[in-house]
Amino acid sequence: MSSFMSAALPAALPAALALLLLPSCAGDPVVPVREIVVGEYGSLTGAQATFGISTRNGIDLATDALNEKGGIHGVKVRIVVEDDQGKPEEAATAVGKIISQDRPVAVLGEVASTNSLAAAPMLQANGIAMISPSSTNPKVTEQGDFIFRVCFIDPFQGTAVATFAYNSKALRNVGILKDVKSDYSTGLAQFFTETFTAMGGTIADEEAYSQGDVDFKAQLTSMIAKSPDAIFIPGYYTDVGLIARQARELGFKGPFLGGDGWDSAELTKIGGEAITGGYFTNHYAVDDPNPIVQDFIAKYDAKYHEKPDGLAALGYDSAMVLYAAMTEIAKDPKVLEALADRSSVPATEGSRKAARAALRDQLAKTAGFPGVTGNITIDEKRNAQKPAVVVEVTEKGNKFVESIAPASATADPAAAPVDPAAPPAAAPVDPAAPPAAAPASAPAAVTTP
Ligand code: PHE
Repeated sequence: MSSFMSAALPAALPAALALLLLPSCAGDPVVPVREIVVGEYGSLTGAQATFGISTRNGIDLATDALNEKGGIHGVKVRIVVEDDQGKPEEAATAVGKIISQDRPVAVLGEVASTNSLAAAPMLQANGIAMISPSSTNPKVTEQGDFIFRVCFIDPFQGTAVATFAYNSKALRNVGILKDVKSDYSTGLAQFFTETFTAMGGTIADEEAYSQGDVDFKAQLTSMIAKSPDAIFIPGYYTDVGLIARQARELGFKGPFLGGDGWDSAELTKIGGEAITGGYFTNHYAVDDPNPIVQDFIAKYDAKYHEKPDGLAALGYDSAMVLYAAMTEIAKDPKVLEALADRSSVPATEGSRKAARAALRDQLAKTAGFPGVTGNITIDEKRNAQKPAVVVEVTEKGNKFVESIAPASATADPAAAPVDPAAPPAAAPVDPAAPPAAAPASAPAAVTTP
C-alpha cells in the first residue's frame, strides 16, 4: 500500500469498503465482478486477419446490445478474446489458455475449419460448448456433442457452387486449385467435384498449393495448358487474390469461382481487376433488402464505419444464438448463479458443470432463430441448414446474384443425384431474395472479366 493511500484512508473506514478501494497488484478490483464469461478465439492477425476481426466486431455488437439491455437476467456477459494468428497450433494454445485462466461457460470460434478442428476436442473434453460462427467443414461438429455451428456445411456449399457453375453459367470444364493445408479447401474441392461431375461437367485439372505460398505459376501453367472454362479456387482471400493475378499474367481469361473463404474487403485489394467478375458462394449479401439484414448493417456501420462482411454477420448470429440459450436456462436463478460462478472450488464444480451441460442441451434445441444470415435451426448433427447466396465480385463490392436453397442441393449429393437432364432452372431462386437475381431459367453466358 502506498503511503498516500494509508494517509488518505480514515482509520474508521469499514474494512469491506477499504478493500473495494484498494487496487490489487495487477490493477484488477479486489471484489470480483459478477459476470458471465464467454471465450472467443480467432485470427486477429496474419493472412486471415479480416476473418477474426470481422467476427470479433459482430460478436461485440451483439454483446454490447445484450449488456445495454441488462445482460442475462441482470448479469453482464464479458467476452475474453485470444488471437490465434490463423494457425491451428496457436488455436489450440489460445483455447487452452482461455479454459484454464478464464473458465468460460462457452466459447465462440473459429472461422477456419482447420483451426476449429484443432481446438474443438479440448472444449468437448472439458464439457464447454463451442459455437463456430463460420467453419463449414463437416468434421468440425463431428468432434462431439458440445460442438455447434450456425452456418451451412460444405457438402451443401460445394453443391451450390457447382450447380451455379453448371446451370447458371453453363460451365462444363473447370480447373481446381486447392489448398492442401486446409480441411475447408480440400473438402470443398471434393464436394464441388462430386456434384459437378454428376451433372455432366468435367474437371480439366486439379492442382494444389499450401497456405502462405506466394508463387502459383507452376500449377497455373499446367492448368491453363488444359484450357479450363473457369478456375475454382476454394481458398482464403489472400491466396485467392494472388492466384487470380498470376493466372491473368499467364493469359487466363475465364472466370474464377470460389466459396465463402473469398469473403474479405482485402480480396479486391490483393486481386485487383483480376478477381472482379469472379463469383463465390456466401452466407449473406450486403444488398439483401430483408429488414433484419439492413437493420444489422445500419447498426454495424454506425459502430465500425464500414459495411459488415459475412463473417461479421455470422459472428453476430453465433453470439445471439448463445445469448438466447443462456437467457432461457438462466430463468432458473440457480443456473444463473452457476453460469456467473467463476471460482474453481470443488464444492460448486458440480453445479457449474451442470449449467454448462444445460446450456449445451438448450443450444441443441435452437429452432427458427431469426438470424442475420437466415433462420437458424440446429439439426441433430449440430449444424444449421440455411440457403447460400452467390455473389459477384465487382469494383463496387459484392453484388447478389442468386440464392440457393438447401433443398435443391442436399447435404449428401450421392443420396439425391442431380439429374443432368434437368432444365437449368433446377436451382430455385429464393422468392424472398433480393430482386437483382437474373432469371434462373435464362442462364447468362459465361462472362469473362
Ligand atoms: N468456411 C470457411 C472454413 O470453414 C471459413 C469462412 C467462412 C471464411 C465464412 C470466410 C467466410 O474454413
